[in-house]
Amino acid sequence: MRVEVFETYTDLSQRTADIVADLVRRRPDAVLGLPTGSTPEGFYRALTQEDVSFRQVRTFNLDEYVGLPQSHPQSYFSFMNSHLYSKVDLVPANCRIPNGMAVDPDAECRHYEDLIRQAGGLDVVVLGIGLNGHIGFNEPGSPWDARTRRVPLAENTRQANARFFGGSVDGVPREALTMGIGTILEAKQILLLASGEGKAEIIRRTLEGEPDISVPATALQRHPNVTVLLDKAAARVLQRTA
Ligand code: F6R
Repeated sequence: MRVEVFETYTDLSQRTADIVADLVRRRPDAVLGLPTGSTPEGFYRALTQEDVSFRQVRTFNLDEYVGLPQSHPQSYFSFMNSHLYSKVDLVPANCRIPNGMAVDPDAECRHYEDLIRQAGGLDVVVLGIGLNGHIGFNEPGSPWDARTRRVPLAENTRQANARFFGGSVDGVPREALTMGIGTILEAKQILLLASGEGKAEIIRRTLEGEPDISVPATALQRHPNVTVLLDKAAARVLQRTA
C-alpha cells in the first residue's frame, strides 16, 4: 500500500479530489465507489470545485442504513445529495445507493452487485475507516469474500455515529446494507482516507499489522493498487510512511 501524508486535512482532501478528477478526465464514464461520514466531506468539497464533467460518471455508494428512507436527514442518500449530487452534473439515474427501505434486502443486495457488474466494475473506491477498522460497514469478523449484504452494526460503530443522531445511540439504526470486502477488493484502485489523531492507532494496525479478519481494513493489504491518504495526525504512530 502506498502512503501519502499531508500537512492538513484540506491538503489530503484536495489530493483525493485531484486523483478522482484526473481519473474522470481520462475516463469520462468512470465508475466510482463512494463513502459518507465526516472524513470525505473535504474531498467532496474539493471535488465539486474541480473543472470536470460528471455527466457520464456512474457512482455506487458503499452503504446505507436499514430502515431510513432517502428523505431522512441522516440517510446516506441525503448526505450524498447535499455533498455531491446537488453540486455537480451527475445524472441522478447514474447515482446508486443501496435502498435501506427495500422490502427484500437480500434481493436488493443481489441487484446492487448486478448493477456494479453491469457497469463494468468499480474503477476506484474511496474509503473511510471506522475506529474498529471497518470499511464500508464490514465490521470486525466480516469474511473477506463477502458481497453486498445486510449486516448488523457493531455497538462501537453505533456509538461513534450517535453524533449524527442527536447524540443518542438509541436513534442510530442497528443494521445497514453494505458492499462486501470482496466487492471492494475487486475495484481497480482503492483510496483509503483517514484524518485526525483518533484514527492513528487503527491506521497503524491497518498498515503495519498482520492481515486479520478482526481488523477488516487489513484486507486491503491484499490489493495491488491501494493509496492511503493521511493527515499528519492520522499518521502519527506509523513506523514507516514510505
Ligand atoms: C461510510 C462508511 C464508513 C465510514 C467510517 C468512518 O460510508 O462506509 O466505513 O467511512 O465509519 O466514518 P467517519 O469518516 O465519519 O469517521
